[in-house]
Amino acid sequence: MTALETFIAGLPKAELHMHLEGSLEPELMFAIARRNKVDIPFKTVEAARAAYDFSNLQDFLDIYYRSTDVLRTEADFHDLTAAYLARVAADGARHVEVFFDPQTHTARGVEFSTVADGMLSALKSAQQTGLTSKLILCFLRHLSEEAAFETLRQAEPYLDRIAAVGLDSSEMGHPPSKFARVFAAARERGLRLVAHAGEEGPPAYVWEALDVLHVDRLDHGNRSLEDAALAERLVRDQMTLTVCPLSNLKLCVVKDMAAHPLKKMLALGLRATVNSDDPAYFGGYLNDNYRAAAAGVGLTRDEVVQLAKNSFLGSFLDGPSILRHLKDIDAYTAKFS
Ligand code: HPA
Ligand code: ZN
Repeated sequence: MTALETFIAGLPKAELHMHLEGSLEPELMFAIARRNKVDIPFKTVEAARAAYDFSNLQDFLDIYYRSTDVLRTEADFHDLTAAYLARVAADGARHVEVFFDPQTHTARGVEFSTVADGMLSALKSAQQTGLTSKLILCFLRHLSEEAAFETLRQAEPYLDRIAAVGLDSSEMGHPPSKFARVFAAARERGLRLVAHAGEEGPPAYVWEALDVLHVDRLDHGNRSLEDAALAERLVRDQMTLTVCPLSNLKLCVVKDMAAHPLKKMLALGLRATVNSDDPAYFGGYLNDNYRAAAAGVGLTRDEVVQLAKNSFLGSFLDGPSILRHLKDIDAYTAKFS
């Protein structure tokens, strides 16, 4: 390991953009398929991994949604979540804010409560080991706003344990404004708001996420750099961008890691963070993303520290908790010098 890689390994950090369904490793997919006696679209673990070769977001989503079909019981959702939490804790994560896609499961006849109870029990267990977390309910943007409203209704008994709503799935042709009313309803219920925008979609979708949905945080946001006025606005608002380097590489948002905009984002004063998105599919967990980005664009140690600080500054933790984590980062960095 290089000195910077060793530094990254123990650096306290938060993860703000990770889809729990996207952490389903092929080994666990096979184990769950066996116990549920359901078929899976792959013959072997190796065949599954070999199929994870995508040329765009939709290629990935087609496989991602099919793979979730093995998840049926509360124990399945618990085990999925627990496996991710153990893995990210080993990467020095102190706090995570994770997405889930209830509509993917309710459409298959799995109850909202089965999904949420399994995930929440694993999050609660991890809390006892010092890893704090928040849960974010994502609406699937390729479905209707009415379907999103129905999902928000199903979530009603859980709203004290859900921190925010988000917007994911196929971006092109499904602009944020399609969900203006359901996001306003979520805000009225006290939820925070995030949305994927500017991953494949144009800067206009990022403007809509800001000015129509009024998001508290923006997921991806890469294409904001194509519009100088938009980038300026994001800097002025200190809007957090949850950037996902290995995802961007695997989904061909960037042609190679050297071409990734992360370093430029930091230079512009954008509050960028590093995240894994769908680690089972994109070749790595949180530290893999820090390491790949650091090597690809040549991050300095100060830039890595800024990214880790941004991950807490952009979280939905309260002020005193954020300050405590920032102090932990400073103490860790001082010890390393
Ligand atoms: N983009 C959009 N939808 C998603 C993603 C993503 O990166 N991962 C899981 N659902
Ligand atoms: Zn995502």
